[in-house]
Amino acid sequence: MHKVEWSEALQLDYPPMDEVHHAFVDLLAMAQAAPDDALPTAWAEVIEHTVHHFGREDEWMRRTRFAAADNHIMQHKVVLNVLREGLALARAGDLRSVREMAGELAAWFAKHTQTLDAALALHMRSAPAPAASRRTHRVREHAVPRP
Ligand SMILES: [Fe+2]
Ligand SMILES: [Fe+2]
Repeated sequence: MHKVEWSEALQLDYPPMDEVHHAFVDLLAMAQAAPDDALPTAWAEVIEHTVHHFGREDEWMRRTRFAAADNHIMQHKVVLNVLREGLALARAGDLRSVREMAGELAAWFAKHTQTLDAALALHMRSAPAPAASRRTHRVREHAVPRP
């Protein structure tokens, strides 16, 4: 089984993404090390975190109109669906399939991080500030009384 572990190769130098990826690696490592009776709960925690992880990246891509968004968002959706199927298997007692899935997820994560996420991190490092903060700034400008 492919064991998940952090390495320098996963560091993308975009802190908001690197922090989420660190947490993902920790949670997946816990699931991989979990005894049978704790595996369904550990797997549910991986899914809950992945919803947040993928959702954040999807939001960045949509907000900044990232050119390669469609393919990346679709990959997130497919993987999340597979992980949810894994949770149903785990709850039905098929722990061997979930352990195999955890190994496949670890391998997928390393590849995804070094390809699609690396491209997104590069894009986000040069992306303009979020629209919300620009809007706040404009409102403040309008609020200044005229002489
Ligand atoms: Fe990611
Ligand atoms: Fe991603």
